Amino acid sequence: TAEAKLVVVGAPGVGKSALIVRFLTKRFIWDYDPTLECTYKHQTTIDDENVALEILDTAGLDDPINKEGHIRWGDGFIVVYSVTDRSSFDEVSSLKQYFDEVKKARNVSCVIIGNKIDLERQRQVTTEEGERLASELACAFFETSACEGGEDILEAFHEVYREVKRR
Ligand code: GTP
Ligand code: MG
Repeated sequence: TAEAKLVVVGAPGVGKSALIVRFLTKRFIWDYDPTLECTYKHQTTIDDENVALEILDTAGLDDPINKEGHIRWGDGFIVVYSVTDRSSFDEVSSLKQYFDEVKKARNVSCVIIGNKIDLERQRQVTTEEGERLASELACAFFETSACEGGEDILEAFHEVYREVKRR
């Protein structure tokens, strides 16, 4: 069985925990519970391969020392912002830069997710802006709704695993 450690990061309240729970259970949690930090173990099949994933759910309000440890721990990263929160989008590129710094490598395996697309009327970040940033940072890009679900959430987790495997 192949193994990979994935870390989900992003500003507070963007839906990191909701996305992980949706990926793991196909369900949505409405209750807002600011995460401390926890890891999930998940056995799954990706591209016909058995994979043991460990997924670290980080707190949006994380202190820098923890953050550095999380980055060292991880093989691949999912950076989440909310399309309804421009400041969460503005944090994405500095997070990506920070990975490269800590890992001392270019091209850290990374996928970017713009979440909460069900809240179309509150949108502050367009799909094109998301796509542009992701291509600048050489990351795959997905837009999702943890509340409505959909294949894109699964695809995002699978894609970051593929990136890890490639490197
Ligand atoms: P921290 O752990 O505090 O950093 O937050 P988080 O990024 O884990 O966010 P969380 O998953 O706790 O979601 C924050 C709030 O947004 C919760 O009330 C969720 O129910 C809600 N939420 C998450 N994803 C979506 C989404 O796709 N659409 C909508 N409408 N609400 C969402
Ligand atoms: Mg959380």
